[in-house]
Amino acid sequence: MKREVTKAIFPVAGLGTRFLPATKSIPKEIMTLVDKPLIQYAIDEARAAGIKEFIFVTSRGKGALEDYFDHAPILEASLREKNKTELLEKLKATNMESGAIAYIRQHQALGLGHAVWCARRLISDEPFAVILPDDVIAAETPCLQQMIEAYQETGGSMVAAMEVPPKAASSYGVLDIKEDMGSMVSVRGMVEKPKEGEAPSNLAVIGRYILTPSVLQNLNDLKSGAGGEIQLTDAIAKEIAENRDVFGYRFRGQRFDCGSKAGYLQATVAFGLANEELGNEFAEYLREMVTIPNAAQ
Ligand code: UTP
Repeated sequence: MKREVTKAIFPVAGLGTRFLPATKSIPKEIMTLVDKPLIQYAIDEARAAGIKEFIFVTSRGKGALEDYFDHAPILEASLREKNKTELLEKLKATNMESGAIAYIRQHQALGLGHAVWCARRLISDEPFAVILPDDVIAAETPCLQQMIEAYQETGGSMVAAMEVPPKAASSYGVLDIKEDMGSMVSVRGMVEKPKEGEAPSNLAVIGRYILTPSVLQNLNDLKSGAGGEIQLTDAIAKEIAENRDVFGYRFRGQRFDCGSKAGYLQATVAFGLANEELGNEFAEYLREMVTIPNAAQ
């Protein structure tokens, strides 16, 4: 099987209930860190890793997301006329090549595994990436690029993994480690959201995957069998049961869970501080702010 990865699935069909009421009319992925929507961070990471085809699994109410990737000729012309070159460049950086994006609907939010399965006909017989835009990763070498480089050596399927405190493990898919090779582990099993105290390790799966097409076949089987949410973790675990390799990759970088309010606020602060234009002023503001109790009330 070839090891070039040129397609990525972006499952964005979730309801985003943790951000209600905002997500009543705005897709979560359009929410911004400083001035860029979450989805743009995910696209930039995918492009840097050599992805050429971008497959969005969307749902009702995600129109703003599709519009975001349209070219904006009137806006561009107006910026050009006013000589706003810098803004024009920023805007153009969001343009996508015609035909590079596909949208598939997930008609019912039946889980992440089901969302990925919905894109099966666009994948054919090649490995593909899955990127959850909620997980924003600040890294010198973008996380997916790190993974694709590692994947070219190993093949199999690969999940991004990070150490979490034991108490937090029950919020994640957790790896049962067969062999620890440092930046990489080979995986004996995976447990989705283990009960407290029952996690097989403290190595949790986060939202970056490189998967072989057989995972889609596994999802097919799960789909016909299971009711309720269809878990991507279960379909990857089935690879191991069928003696195919699965690896966990300890990426270098800082991951922010922007699907949660606390993680989103932390990312906003981190990206605000790292911003060239705002960083110093924002740092000064924060220093003052933390000395004033309940300043926003
Ligand atoms: P989450 O578990 O964060 O769910 O999904 P959610 O619906 O987005 O948010 P909350 O929990 O209600 O606040 C993780 C990722 O999987 C996608 C989501 O869009 C998100 O990128 N997803 C989840 C789907 O595409 N379809 C689903 O049925 C479930």
